[in-house]
Amino acid sequence: MATKEEQYSLVYKQIASLIAGENDAVSVMANISAMLHDCFGFWWTGFYRVEGGELILGPFQGPVACMHIGYGKGVCGTAWKERRTVVVPDVEQFPGHIACSSESRSEIVVPVYQKGAVVAVLDIDSRELETFDEVDAQWLEKIVLLLPPIGSERDIYLAAGCFWGAEKYLKLIEGVTFTEVGFANGNTENPTYKEVYTDQTGYAETVHLRYNPSIVSLRFLLEMYFKAIDPTSLNKQGEDEGTRYRTGIYYSDSADRTVIDEVVAEEAKKYGLPLCVEVEPLRNFYPADEYHQDYLDKNPSGYCHLPVALFELAKKAKDTL
Ligand code: SME
Repeated sequence: MATKEEQYSLVYKQIASLIAGENDAVSVMANISAMLHDCFGFWWTGFYRVEGGELILGPFQGPVACMHIGYGKGVCGTAWKERRTVVVPDVEQFPGHIACSSESRSEIVVPVYQKGAVVAVLDIDSRELETFDEVDAQWLEKIVLLLPPIGSERDIYLAAGCFWGAEKYLKLIEGVTFTEVGFANGNTENPTYKEVYTDQTGYAETVHLRYNPSIVSLRFLLEMYFKAIDPTSLNKQGEDEGTRYRTGIYYSDSADRTVIDEVVAEEAKKYGLPLCVEVEPLRNFYPADEYHQDYLDKNPSGYCHLPVALFELAKKAKDTL
């Protein structure tokens, strides 16, 4: 009987040849689910896509499943939040596991990254305990790299000084479906807040935004961003000083560069001064600890370098597209 390695090696080749040249993500996800499901006889095999700030079901093979999963919830939401494959040998031992089916005993969830963001997860359930290990993780991670672009939502990474206030402000804009704060374009791996705070890592406090481009355009988001920064101030926003508080627009899709350059040029005209806003491709992004996520929602009287009036502005802002 073929080993798991051999089975994966074969199914990988079959998937790669079947989907070569296909660029409809839904049909490719449907066939990847079907091939894995058939080849290994799993209990449930399929995808959840990141849309509207949550995981949405489909495509999949197997019994009916829950349709919405929140960020950080269950095994799927954990793989999304922690950006790593999660292997669960016994679902009963995983705190917060979401039991869509009582038959499921073990599970693996693999995040699908595209352009620096998690855009979906591949979730597989088994009726046996301890079905999945490193071999599954490695092959499934390789298989999801074959996927064409998924979903219609887009990502942009904005550094606007202290990320506590910046996240609260940007999140209020209609069409922004998801935000997380973290550190972008630095020189170390897995930086902690404390390390970034030394100003020696090269990281900028940054807000990762996901947005629905049929509700809000990148141009509008950037115009709103400029209302919340002093673009002529180098490495200082409000009272916060240091390279970690520099302003920056980091893009994960080079097609965004044109509109970014246009908006920056228009803003520069308003000031009549060269701007200090860095514009670069996103090189890396590491989310900050949970403590920093939605900080001002959790601590309404916490420190904020932005005036309250800006939040009112963001709440009312509406792109006319
Ligand atoms: N068990 C998953 C939910 C999805 S079903 O397994 C299809 C979880 O805890 O995220």
